[in-house]
Amino acid sequence: MPKQGFVKAVEEDKLSNNTLLVTLLDGVEVLICKVGGKIFATSARCTHKGCSLSEGWIEDGIIVCGCHLSKFDPHSGKVVKGPAETALKTFEVQDGEGYIWVKL
Ligand code: FES
Repeated sequence: MPKQGFVKAVEEDKLSNNTLLVTLLDGVEVLICKVGGKIFATSARCTHKGCSLSEGWIEDGIIVCGCHLSKFDPHSGKVVKGPAETALKTFEVQDGEGYIWVKL
């Protein structure tokens, strides 16, 4: 049973390993990805020039922005490789009842 404060985001089986998706939750764009079987959620706009990370991908367990190839750690949101300099925001996630839940 999901904890209080979590929002239902996406059906768990819609997200394959090493993929990401972007969804709008209570007016907030959230990136959800599965890496190594673990699920992470971050803000969905690249901190470099604001491209949507829905156009990005997962490479070697790292989120890649499709615009200028900044790389972010899905766990911490930290920049792994620029040009971005600022980390993505991260959100707490949990699974339950066949869904992924995100705390905004
Ligand atoms: S907007 Fe993402 S790297 Fe430039």
